[in-house]
Amino acid sequence: MSIPASTTPSSSQQVPNPWQAHAVSIRSIQQEIDGVSTYDLAFDNAAADGTYRFSPGQFNMLYLPGAGEIAISVSDDPARSASSCRHTVRTAGNVTRTLGKLQPGDTLGLRGPFGTAWPMADCIGRDVIIVAGGIGLAPLRPAIYTLLRERRCYGRLNLLLGARSPGTLLYRSEFAQWEERGLVVQTTVDQSTPDWTGNVGVVTLLLERLRSFDPTNSVLLCCGPEVMMKFTAVTAQHRGIPPERIWISMERNMQCAVGLCGHCQWGPEFVCKDGPVFRYDRIARWIDVERL
Ligand SMILES: Cc1cc2nc3c(=O)[nH]c(=O)nc-3n(C[C@H](O)[C@H](O)[C@H](O)COP(=O)(O)OP(=O)(O)OC[C@H]3O[C@@H](n4cnc5c(N)ncnc54)[C@H](O)[C@@H]3O)c2cc1C
Ligand code: FES
Repeated sequence: MSIPASTTPSSSQQVPNPWQAHAVSIRSIQQEIDGVSTYDLAFDNAAADGTYRFSPGQFNMLYLPGAGEIAISVSDDPARSASSCRHTVRTAGNVTRTLGKLQPGDTLGLRGPFGTAWPMADCIGRDVIIVAGGIGLAPLRPAIYTLLRERRCYGRLNLLLGARSPGTLLYRSEFAQWEERGLVVQTTVDQSTPDWTGNVGVVTLLLERLRSFDPTNSVLLCCGPEVMMKFTAVTAQHRGIPPERIWISMERNMQCAVGLCGHCQWGPEFVCKDGPVFRYDRIARWIDVERL
């Protein structure tokens, strides 16, 4: 299926040879929260290192010999000068458990980057609302770094983040720095703890109460569980944001990552090449279909 130019973020980087897995070494591992760590990967080959570029929202396929290959979003700053690339991974099953046993200096394979990107160009001159649920903040972090680096190009910036509990708020140590640079961060949790004095409830409540934005000139970027993205899109439209300025990032099981195997098919879309970032009006009718 061809994608109308207006719905395809123009900044997506295309990979020259999608089948070529580059050897990368783990430079460092940072535990973010329980069961979630960020792996900083450095290319072993200088030529691959020199040509690798990604756009906010894109993902790589990480290959662990003997275990398998998985799609993981890049959670780094696209303009980061160091020749390394961070990925934030939640331990889920076989491949992520195998990754969790590796140490700095160990090697794995990396193909990519793949997929569509967040529409950073469409954000210029507009208020931007980022809505994230749990580890859904990982694919949005490159967009946050981009917005803050070019802060003067954008209007008001809001991050609304939901998590199961205070201890599962991702990247919490960066919030103060983000706020200093002009991003208003609001958080909410499903389950509070005795020391939590913040919001309790679903993240859409934060969107319902948000005042500091102009709905007629805002872009909303959202990533999290599917049900959360669906209700965020509904709430955003009630608040006056048109569906063509709401963007969500989808997940499906992936194998080839280039639109050939069909594993990631979602209605008429292939999440690996038509997504993972979709403009909401384009996929609104699929998000309502359970188990599609
Ligand atoms: C475009 C894209 C970007 C992603 N970015 C990240 C990321 O930044 N960080 C991260 O931790 N994970 C990310 N994921 C999810 C990650 O690919 C899966 O968690 C991983 O494949 C699980 O592999 P596993 O072998 O460890 O677990 P498995 O044994 O394969 O699966 C464990 C559990 O997760 C479910 N699962 C497996 N794959 C997926 C999937 N693709 N979508 C939804 N549920 C799945 C399975 O049904 C099972 O319940 C992304 C997925 C996609 C498609
Ligand atoms: S992963 Fe093969 S078609 Fe998308």
